[in-house]
Amino acid sequence: MFTKFLILSLLCIPLVFTTPQDTNDNNYNFVRSLDRKVLGLNAKKEKLTHFKFYWHDMVSGSNPSSVQIVPPPLKNSTTAFGVVNMIENPLTLGPQLSSKLVGKAQGFYASSSQSEIDLIMAMNFAITLGKYNGSTITILGRNPVLNKVREMPVIGGSGLFRFARGYAQLRTHWFSPKTKDAIVEYNIYVLHY
Ligand SMILES: *[C@@H]1O[C@H](CO)[C@@H](O)[C@H](O)[C@H]1NC(C)=O
Ligand SMILES: *[C@@H]1O[C@H](CO)[C@@H](O)[C@H](O)[C@H]1NC(C)=O
Repeated sequence: MFTKFLILSLLCIPLVFTTPQDTNDNNYNFVRSLDRKVLGLNAKKEKLTHFKFYWHDMVSGSNPSSVQIVPPPLKNSTTAFGVVNMIENPLTLGPQLSSKLVGKAQGFYASSSQSEIDLIMAMNFAITLGKYNGSTITILGRNPVLNKVREMPVIGGSGLFRFARGYAQLRTHWFSPKTKDAIVEYNIYVLHY
């Protein structure tokens, strides 16, 4: 009788140890797999969209859109390594600042190389035009500014750009060596629902 009980208990031990853990996981309920239908993704096809607009980096004048928030920490750096600018740069349909406003590029960029002019750029493109008003595209990438064409990844988005991925191609349209103001053409290719 006792031996039977002992064997039974031993058999039960693994159950005793595993069951509470499983139940706890279920109780916390912080993660679950979801059917695409719940978010309506099954009915929607992933779209590929191309945007073209101009990005205005205005560092000069009394109303700059791009301001230095960290001065270059090293006095002798030829690349201003470590300098950081916070931006809210206008995005316009045409290269002229007076052309139609598409949205604003909000974020910052920093000099990230000791040997050439490379920037790390982190930006949210807050679109205000048309049906995309209120939606954002997020870009995080490396920008070797002296190259003719640069490419940075689109890492996500919000609103109509949920689940966004893609890339942006940049070409400098205009640059003033005197004021350091720049206008850059952005072509963005983005997959989204
Ligand atoms: C900058 O100055 C530091 C300290 O004097 C020196 O060690 C370093 O090599 C210099 N860097 C450059 C790029 O000249
Ligand atoms: C974009 O949306 C905001 C908030 O809903 C609204 O105030 C604004 O007028 C809209 N802009 C355009 C260009 O439709």
